[in-house]
Amino acid sequence: MTPRPYACVDPACTDAAHGHPRPPSVAAVATSAKASLAHGSPVLIRGGRVITATDDYVADVLMRDGVIDAIGQHIAVGPDVAVVDASGLYVLPGGVDTHVHMENVIGPTITCDTFASGTKAAAFGGTTTVVDFALQTAVDSPLGAIERARRSADPQVNVDYSLHVIVTRVDDQVLQDVRHAMRHEGVTSFKMFMAYPGVMMADDAAIFRMLRQVGSEGGMVALHAENGTVIDLLIKEALAAGHTSPRYHALTRPAIMEGEATHRGIRLAELAEAPIYFVHVSSNQALKHIVAARDEGIPVFAETCPHYLLFDDSVYNNDDFATAKYVMTPPLRKPDDQQHLWRALRYDDLQVIATDHCPFCMKEGHLGYQLQKMRGQDDFSLIPNGAPGIETRLVSLFDIGVMRGKLSLNRFVELTSTTPAKLFGLFPRKGTIAVGSDADVVLFNPAASQTIRASELHSNCDYTLLEGRTLQGRVEKVFLRGQLIVDGQQWHGREGLGRFVPRGEVRAF
Ligand code: URP
Ligand code: ZN
Ligand code: ZN
Repeated sequence: MTPRPYACVDPACTDAAHGHPRPPSVAAVATSAKASLAHGSPVLIRGGRVITATDDYVADVLMRDGVIDAIGQHIAVGPDVAVVDASGLYVLPGGVDTHVHMENVIGPTITCDTFASGTKAAAFGGTTTVVDFALQTAVDSPLGAIERARRSADPQVNVDYSLHVIVTRVDDQVLQDVRHAMRHEGVTSFKMFMAYPGVMMADDAAIFRMLRQVGSEGGMVALHAENGTVIDLLIKEALAAGHTSPRYHALTRPAIMEGEATHRGIRLAELAEAPIYFVHVSSNQALKHIVAARDEGIPVFAETCPHYLLFDDSVYNNDDFATAKYVMTPPLRKPDDQQHLWRALRYDDLQVIATDHCPFCMKEGHLGYQLQKMRGQDDFSLIPNGAPGIETRLVSLFDIGVMRGKLSLNRFVELTSTTPAKLFGLFPRKGTIAVGSDADVVLFNPAASQTIRASELHSNCDYTLLEGRTLQGRVEKVFLRGQLIVDGQQWHGREGLGRFVPRGEVRAF
């Protein structure tokens, strides 16, 4: 039996019991064909179904000077205001994706989306704010990392953005810089790795020091939780046994080592009396510790990613190199893990769905990118970890979550926009539709469907995990601070139109 969606998503439905009022008949409204949507004039979105994390109603939304100016019934406007008829469409807050990797240098290679291409893909997918990473290298400080990332991103970004700093080395100076970044640079979250020894991994004491410092200042440490040293040993043993194909990536990163690191991270956060956020949670081994900690009242937060909900480890049942497209960390898990992820998403043990968009091309040299997935042709441990997904996040979750009755519409918005904005200090500027919030608005058509093809997406990546899959729902129009940037397949945005958004304290409690 197909489960019935929590909220009715049929735009033609007239059953009042389904909880969505029909648009009132619109009277006495002046509109103008003169006001141009593409040129920054105020815009009235007329008669769409406004969905936030808590509300669901039909209204007009007036956007002016970059923010939402008014929400109401039958808003009358003059000829200077462009009017968009949104009947039958959802009016959603722009997506907030707090885990993306553009131009990230990882080992000897780089992710194949620039800030320009990756944020354009984000926009077409209905995401208007991303949080990327600034990597502290062996030689520079968190402040140097922020400066370097901003120098590259600021002129290129097509949507608004911020940065988490990846902290790989902790000493007194680093902690001072972290405080400065939080107080003066608008960077209030920091990512640390319990995996990748010798490259990114931080030891427990370093993580604990950061948790104490960042937590006491109202920020958030995000943890990549896997037991790096044990995994490294398993990798060496697999290679020594002649196991070189991509599927051994998954076999050497067992869920129990994600669980172990998650438990350790929780205990470190508990001791530090700090909130903690786990990125890319993939397994019930990790989840069960998160659930237990939340039940104990420890402020533990976590995200999962669409690929863990869309695919399972059956993709690794072969030795083909094509499997390298599923080489991401943590790897895909069992169908049983997926069921636990869905349960956790429903009951708020997982609060965010972010993409971990970390694209590497399958074809060496595509758009000039070198040392991409083919680097690991003869050794799975050299395959750069990660997969694309930024453009398909909302539509894939709408299809497999909302349409299949696993997520209500409000929960869909909460997981993809509102809570990520709250947890990372962007709310209420981002993450909702409210008077005074940035006018980042997506018009979403629940009745349309689309077949996903990498050739039609806007990432530089040469593949999508969803190739050929038909999904229900389509992003029709996207406004960034009131400016139309996406209109169907038409691009009206501009590199540099996106802005760096200084962030505030975590709002999670
Ligand atoms: O495979 C992944 N997730 N690559 C990106 C780096 C990370 O660990 O988030
Ligand atoms: Zn990670
Ligand atoms: Zn990542």
